[in-house]
Amino acid sequence: MKNKYLITSALPYVNNVMHIGHFCGVYLPADVYARFCRARGRDVLFVCGADEHGTASEIGALKENIPIEEYVDKYRILQEQDFCNFNMQFDFYGRTHTELHKDLIQNLFTRLDEQGLIEERTTRQPYSVDDKMFLADRFIEGTCPKCGNDKARGDQCDSGCGSVLEPTDLINPRSVISGSHNIDWRDTKHLYFRASAMEGKLREWIGTRRGWPKTALSIANKWLDEGLRDTPITRDLKWGIPVNKPGYEDKVFYVWFDAPWGYVSISQAATPNWAEWWKAGDDCHYTQFMGKDNVAFHSVFFPEQQLAMNDNWKTVDVLKANNFLNFEGGKTSKSTGHGVFLNDAINDAPADCWRYSLIASTPETDDTDFTIQRFADIVNKDLNGILGNFVSRVCKLTEKNFGNLCPPSRGFDVAGFESTLNEKLSELTGSLEACEFRKAVAALRELWATGNEFMAQNEPWTLVKNGDMDRAGAILNECFQLIDFYARVSAPFIPKTSEKMKKIFVGADDYLSSNWPDKYERRIKDGQEFTVPENLFDRIDAEKIAEMTTKYVKK
Ligand code: 2FM
Ligand code: ZN
Repeated sequence: MKNKYLITSALPYVNNVMHIGHFCGVYLPADVYARFCRARGRDVLFVCGADEHGTASEIGALKENIPIEEYVDKYRILQEQDFCNFNMQFDFYGRTHTELHKDLIQNLFTRLDEQGLIEERTTRQPYSVDDKMFLADRFIEGTCPKCGNDKARGDQCDSGCGSVLEPTDLINPRSVISGSHNIDWRDTKHLYFRASAMEGKLREWIGTRRGWPKTALSIANKWLDEGLRDTPITRDLKWGIPVNKPGYEDKVFYVWFDAPWGYVSISQAATPNWAEWWKAGDDCHYTQFMGKDNVAFHSVFFPEQQLAMNDNWKTVDVLKANNFLNFEGGKTSKSTGHGVFLNDAINDAPADCWRYSLIASTPETDDTDFTIQRFADIVNKDLNGILGNFVSRVCKLTEKNFGNLCPPSRGFDVAGFESTLNEKLSELTGSLEACEFRKAVAALRELWATGNEFMAQNEPWTLVKNGDMDRAGAILNECFQLIDFYARVSAPFIPKTSEKMKKIFVGADDYLSSNWPDKYERRIKDGQEFTVPENLFDRIDAEKIAEMTTKYVKK
C-alpha cells in the first residue's frame, strides 16, 4: 500500500496577483486533495512556488519599470499572501530563482548532454532592429498559423488554440516592447533537446498512465501523434538560469526547461528527505494539478527529460488538468479589470465561501462561467441554508431546552439514516480519490442535507413542546454526532469552518481526532459540553451582489 503522496500545482508566473479562475483550476483542488490525503494518514508532500524566470516576468518588469529581481519579489510575496489568506496548506511554497534550482538545472543539462541528447544548431531568430535585441518567447507576438489568433506568442498560442509554437511559425510578427514590425531574422546558436529520440519511451510511458482526465489525455496524444519535435532549450536573454556550456555565456535556459524541475528543487528546499517522494518509484503516488494550457509541457516535455535522465525520477501518475473558469461571460483581464482577484475577493467574503463555491464550479469537463449570482446562490443555499442553518438550529435548540451539555442518546434507533450516510460518504471518498471535485461537492452537500431532513422528520421542537424530552434529547444527540461528522468530512473544502465546528465540543480534542472517517461514527459522549457558535456563514444579500457586480464586471 502506497503511503507517499506527492502533490504539485503548476508554479505560477509572478507577473500578476492571482484571479479566482486560476486559483479554482490549479491551486484549490490540489489543496483539497492534499488535505484529504493527510486526513487519510498519508505521507504527503504538497509543494508549489513561484516560476520566476521567463519572459512573462521580464515583460512585466519592463512595463512597471522596476528591476526584475524587485518585480518578481513583489508578485511572489503578493501571491503567497493570497494563498495564505485562502488557507492553502502547502508543505512548502518556494521559488525557482535559487542556487539549489540553478544547480539542479545545470546538472540536468550536463547529464542530458553526456547522453548525447543535446544538439547545437544555428537557427534564425527574430531580432528587433528598433529594440536592438532578439525577441524570445513572449517578446514577440503575431498571428497563429493554426487558429488565426492575432495575439499568439513566440512560444505558445496561449489565448487561442494552445498550440506550442516557435517564433518562425508566427504570421506578421511584431515586437511586444515597441510594437515594431521591423524584424530581422538573424543567425544565432542554440541548444536543442533531442525529444525525437525519446518518442518510443514516452509513448510506452503514457500508455501506462491511468486516471487522467480526457482533456489531458487528448492533448498529450495529439502531441505524440504530431511527432515529437526537437526543442530549443536556450534563449538569447539575460534573466534565467545561465547555460553551463562554453560559448553560451550570454544565454539562459528556456523557462519551460527549468520550471517543471522547480517541483524537485522546491521539494529539496522543503525537506532533506525529498528523495522519499522523488526517487520512490512505484511506492509514491504523484498527482499534478494544472490548467489545460500547461498540459503539453507536463505530459510530454517534462517526462521526456525525466525519462531521458535515466535516474529513477518519479514521473506523474495522475495529471489533473482543468479547463478555464471564465467570469460573467468573458475572460478575466488585468487590463480592463474584469474579474475577481484574490486580494479583493477576501474582503467580500470569508475564504471558505470562495473555496466552497469555487470548488463546486471546478471546470473539469469544459470551460465554465462563474458569476456573482452563482457565488451568492451557492453561499446562501448550501453553506448558509443547509450547513450553517443545521448547526445553528441544533446548538440553539439544545441550549434552550437542555443547557450546554449534549443530551443522552438513550439507544435511539437510527436505522436507514446510517446506511444513507455511509453510501454518500463512500461517494465522497471515491470522488476525492479520483480527484473529481464536482462529484465530491455533490456528495458532501447530500451529507449535509441529511441533517436537515432528519430534523424536519423528527421535529425535536415539537417533541419538546409535547414534553417528550427524552426523545427530543436523543434526536439532538444524533444531530451533534452529525456536526462532528460534518466537521471531519468538510475540512478539506472549508477548513476554517470545520475548525469552528470542532470547537463547538469544548475540550474534546483528546478524543475527537480529525482523521478521515471510513464510516459514520458516533463519537460525541453523552453530557459533552458544547458552545453555541456564531453563525457559520452570512448570507450574500441583493445589495452585496449589486456592489460586487459593479466592482468586478467590467465588460
Ligand atoms: O502557466 C504558468 O503560470 C507557468 N508558470 C506554469 C509552470 S508549471 C511548472 F512547470 F512549473
Ligand atoms: Zn492558435
